[in-house]
Amino acid sequence: MIDNECVGSGQSSGDSHKAKLSFSSVTPVDVQVRNLSVQVESSTRQWKDRFPSFRKSTSDLETPQTKCLLTHIDADFPHGTLTGILGSRGSGKTTLLNVLSERMYDSNLSVQGERLHNNSTSLSSISHAYVGQTDSLLPTVTVHETLTFAASLLLPTSISRIQRAKLVDNIIVELGLKDCSNSCVGDGVRHMGCSSGGLRLISLGIELLRNPSVLFLEEPTTGLDPTSAFHIVTKLKSLTQKGVTVIMTLHQPRSDVFRMLDRVILLSQGHSLYAGVASEAVPWFERLVRPLELHRNPADYLIDIGAINVCMGAAEETAPSRISRLIAAWKSESAIRFPPLKSKLTISPVDPHDVIKAACWSCHTWTYPDIPEAEGKQS
Ligand SMILES: Nc1ncnc2c1ncn2[C@@H]1O[C@H](COP(=O)(O)OP(=O)(O)OP(=O)(O)O)[C@@H](O)[C@H]1O
Ligand SMILES: [Mg+2]
Repeated sequence: MIDNECVGSGQSSGDSHKAKLSFSSVTPVDVQVRNLSVQVESSTRQWKDRFPSFRKSTSDLETPQTKCLLTHIDADFPHGTLTGILGSRGSGKTTLLNVLSERMYDSNLSVQGERLHNNSTSLSSISHAYVGQTDSLLPTVTVHETLTFAASLLLPTSISRIQRAKLVDNIIVELGLKDCSNSCVGDGVRHMGCSSGGLRLISLGIELLRNPSVLFLEEPTTGLDPTSAFHIVTKLKSLTQKGVTVIMTLHQPRSDVFRMLDRVILLSQGHSLYAGVASEAVPWFERLVRPLELHRNPADYLIDIGAINVCMGAAEETAPSRISRLIAAWKSESAIRFPPLKSKLTISPVDPHDVIKAACWSCHTWTYPDIPEAEGKQS
């Protein structure tokens, strides 16, 4: 939201913008999911149709197999919270994030369950943004130019050039990119420029131009040194304090990053083992498996608990039987913690209209209600 007082004032200093201009006043959005399941029909049919010599029997043509990527996930993501989706490799973190952000498009997929964003079953009417794992940025332009260019493309024409410039300055200040705003973005190979942490912040800054109420991030800390990872999560935490619902997948978060999380979802083989307040996650598993060792990173402890190849707890208990036990325990707990929602959404298979809506979602995401129309028509 842009404060009326500063619109058209022509001030250009980043600090004065900070006092008067805020990109982060958002409509609070609570996200809830119930009984969310994702299945994929995997079939060897297509390629074996093309290469009949590989076909061993006619059953190759007729028996597509169904694989459950997510099974009966219940979770709440209240506004103004930072949620980390944790789990070992292949546990379903990306799948869950993609389903929540409505980016799971595949004709073989079937998504069932209930999703609610405030009172809406679809994200298309909610201001939201997604930051992917890789940074697709032009290496030869500066940080400031990158954000200015993105603002020209992303912001509606009702926002004037002056306002866009202020918004860009404000984002640069808020993300701590002021020192490198006139440096080239770089790619770390042929063009030297920003560090990998800087690139992540620029990608985040571009998405913040959308003024999202819900922000999804795919492994924002992966590939970064611990300090940069901590810095990014600190910025995300500050967004939650302004009401943004932040949902991210995390890979090996350091302990102080884990401590910044408000909520945690621990996945194992597409099942949730825990979905709730972060500080209660370890006590939940300590009761069911074994105590957290002194000085151990709680995130490592949780990820190991959900890993199919890590034995812990009772010596005679195998990892698969531990995980089955934990799935059953959380299923009973979920029935108490997560009452059904009022609205039901069932998509099976993926609805092509949803794909079209998702492709043009950015058209619906602008909430800058305080911009006077006359100012907006100047540029
Ligand atoms: N479209 C798809 N079709 C078939 N299988 C899929 C599809 N998407 C994901 N999977 C499978 O679902 C499982 C979970 O994948 P996902 O990428 O969600 O895991 P992850 O927890 O993000 O793993 P990682 O830590 O490696 O990123 C994997 O076995 C993957 O192969
Ligand atoms: Mg993943």
